[in-house]
Amino acid sequence: MNEVSINDILHSNKFLDKKVSISGWVKTFRANRFIALNDGSGLDNLQCVIDFENTDDEILKSISTGAAINVSGSLVSSQGSQQNVELKVDSCKILGDCNPETYPIQPKKHSFEFLRENAHLRTRTNTFGAVMRIRSNLSFAIHDYFKNNGFYYVHTPIITASDAEGAGEQFRVSTLDMKNPPIDDNGKIDFKKDFFGKETNLTVSGQLEAEAYAMSMGKVYTFGPTFRAENSNTSRHLSEFWMIEPEVAFMDINGNMKLAEGFLKYILSYIVKNNIEDLKFLENRLIVEEKQKPQNERGELTLIEKLKFVIENEFKIITYTEAFEILRNCKPNKKKKFKYLIDDWGTDLQSEHERFLVEKEFKCPVIIYNYPAKIKSFYMRLNDDKKTVRAMDILFPGIGEIVGGSEREERLDVLLKRIKKVGIDEKELWWYTDLRKYGTAVHSGFGLGFERLVMFATGMSNIRDVIPFPRTPQNAEF
Ligand code: 4AD
Repeated sequence: MNEVSINDILHSNKFLDKKVSISGWVKTFRANRFIALNDGSGLDNLQCVIDFENTDDEILKSISTGAAINVSGSLVSSQGSQQNVELKVDSCKILGDCNPETYPIQPKKHSFEFLRENAHLRTRTNTFGAVMRIRSNLSFAIHDYFKNNGFYYVHTPIITASDAEGAGEQFRVSTLDMKNPPIDDNGKIDFKKDFFGKETNLTVSGQLEAEAYAMSMGKVYTFGPTFRAENSNTSRHLSEFWMIEPEVAFMDINGNMKLAEGFLKYILSYIVKNNIEDLKFLENRLIVEEKQKPQNERGELTLIEKLKFVIENEFKIITYTEAFEILRNCKPNKKKKFKYLIDDWGTDLQSEHERFLVEKEFKCPVIIYNYPAKIKSFYMRLNDDKKTVRAMDILFPGIGEIVGGSEREERLDVLLKRIKKVGIDEKELWWYTDLRKYGTAVHSGFGLGFERLVMFATGMSNIRDVIPFPRTPQNAEF
């Protein structure tokens, strides 16, 4: 007998009129006869028809939503209009029953808040199954893109002694006794006595180490978890998120922008090709949701149309100064509708400004580059105007910033000045500055926030719903 997946069965003719055996979870059981079975291999369930007159009563009682069962029988053409094939069950085994009184995932609509509290079971629902299958395929597409384009995958460390972004938003890693830490001669905690002999944290970015590898292996990328202790309880921030960071030697900011655009288009096309059923399901969910909104707040494009629009159209590329001028002169700024008004050149753009540019002004993804030096990290290449750096951010509709990157400062003297200016101890970055002493060269890279990408690809509006077990301030359940 064939032990096959439901996905295989529904996408091939070769199992018709064959005996098959399938294990899965009951979605619904109707009329003591029809089991909708899902084994996790795809969105669609297999209809399994049980002969209740010849089935033990105990078994029939245990076939309830959520139960794990194994069924075997013949796969036949279905009489019903909902499906082409169905399983005529010869034998049904209960692998693990499921108490219908207490099982949280009932066959009805649940709120996302409720499902977040039941994150260990939420992938039993169609929506979360679809989101997580798309997440899985996006990861694969990312590796696929880099492999096809001559990049090497580098595993940068999770525990580091350097704050790559210099933003001081790190989680400490320590084995010191918190109640009674060792104190040095200056009355400060003596980290020399800590596990690594120095202060260490969870990484906020693998970039600095990726730069070291780019400066020998040419084209590299990291794809790993990163951690930020920023107290931002928003629908776009996680304390633990995954980031993809390519880093390329001999590539400038223009090459960096091209790389990012081509890369994003490739990975989004990959899921349009390979997850169309999941995307259609999520699209229909969103259409129903949109209908509940007032007419003027409804989006113009459906989910798949939005993905295709990004894949098929060029991103708009503008400098910070151009963005600043547009924002300074736009209606919401003049009418003081923005929470943060745009008056002075050099102010950081907030998400309301980013969304205005993407959703109202250009209606397409926007790359902003050449940002004021004072609002960006120390490692970014200073322009000749000495005021701006070769930074670039990519903004997406509905998401805001999805990518942050730059050409790196490759000149030792300029880098040292910048390190000093932001107050970092140069000694801590000795190995990073070494890279500028031994065969330095132009190089660039960027970071793509993986969960923000998954949000865009699935149309989910809260970042907590696109990662299996979200970590946010005051929340590390599961
Ligand atoms: O702009 P960021 O901070 O850039 C860096 O970390 C660079 N070292 C990347 C590089 O050049 N190699 O972060 C990059 C992206 C953001 O654009 C955003 O998509 C995502 O990471 N991101 C977050 N995603 C979820 N939760 C958070 N708290 C995030 N912070 C940043």
